[in-house]
Amino acid sequence: MNNPKESPSLHTPCSDPRSAGTVALRWQGARLELLDQRLLPAQEHWITLETAAGVAQSIHDMVVRGAPAIGISAAYGVALAARKAEGDDWQTEVKMAIRELAASRPTAVNLFWALQRMERVLEGCAALDEARQRLEREAVAIHEEDLAANLAMADHALEAMGLSSGNPSPVSVLTHCNTGALATGGYGTALGVIRRLHEKQLLKQVYADETRPWLQGSRLTAWELVRDGIPVTLNADGAAAAILAAGEVRWIIVGADRITANGDVANKIGTYSLAVLARHHKVGFMVVAPSSTVDMALKSGAEIPIEERDGKEVREIRGIALAPEGVPVFNPVFDVTPANLIDLIVTEKGVVQNPGASGMHGLFG
Ligand code: MRU
Repeated sequence: MNNPKESPSLHTPCSDPRSAGTVALRWQGARLELLDQRLLPAQEHWITLETAAGVAQSIHDMVVRGAPAIGISAAYGVALAARKAEGDDWQTEVKMAIRELAASRPTAVNLFWALQRMERVLEGCAALDEARQRLEREAVAIHEEDLAANLAMADHALEAMGLSSGNPSPVSVLTHCNTGALATGGYGTALGVIRRLHEKQLLKQVYADETRPWLQGSRLTAWELVRDGIPVTLNADGAAAAILAAGEVRWIIVGADRITANGDVANKIGTYSLAVLARHHKVGFMVVAPSSTVDMALKSGAEIPIEERDGKEVREIRGIALAPEGVPVFNPVFDVTPANLIDLIVTEKGVVQNPGASGMHGLFG
């Protein structure tokens, strides 16, 4: 069996001028490179992976995180498994790798969407060489499609906000967690909309929740926005209510990890309380997510598996104790925002206004 050679010929979005310049992952044909997001903003350290097991562990440990980036990384993990597979049982080996990747984190449906897509390709392959080529091509396609979806959603969002014609005034927005190039194929979902507002001189400023306990807002979102010269103010999560009460913010723009058939949305813990605040202060609430985040198999948010992580993530930061040792911790990392608190769900396939079952079925069948 010939050693699989690197395939530098395959273009990947890493160097795509449409991307935001910051990228979370780089496919190099025989290995996947991940920017270790646990170390940002202090260090830009890249990890090189050659196995699906390494990718699964990196997803679980949040070296790479964010629903679309998790799906893209998992797809490349399957391509790596095919490169490592050998012998007659190659298809079983790759399927075992798919199971291992599927066990890395439970909530972001993009992970399972990508793995199912890769498994369908695998089942259509008669030989290992063919499987290696087709699985790599499929993973790159998943990556490219996500970047294209980011760009389309940014346009749909501005239109839905009524900002794509006439002479609208710039707006201030608030966002939660990180939904930028680090969490996607390279531009961002909610942060992609914010990038587009800035590109069109329609952005006054962004308020970015620090997003305890993992601090995706302060460590990742503020980092991306400062690098792009986009006006950002970082705030403690608890300050969001006071910011909305001040009346400057027009929209809260967030991402999603899973959207169910009735329009309920799972996203980073704290999103639900922001939706309640937005309704109270009559501020628009927009969810931006590619269709790979839509799970029409689940009727409502109550069916979404919500990940709970180690209490250590709340009790300490970088080894510094923030609480008495061993104090019990409740650490769900996502919550569910009911559809009736959401004004817009923006996807690359279109926008669902005042989401509910009929609107979702209208767009996703
Ligand atoms: O735990 P994380 O960092 O993976 O959580 C990420 C989020 O909740 C994002 O808002 C969501 O995945 C969308 S990323 C475009």
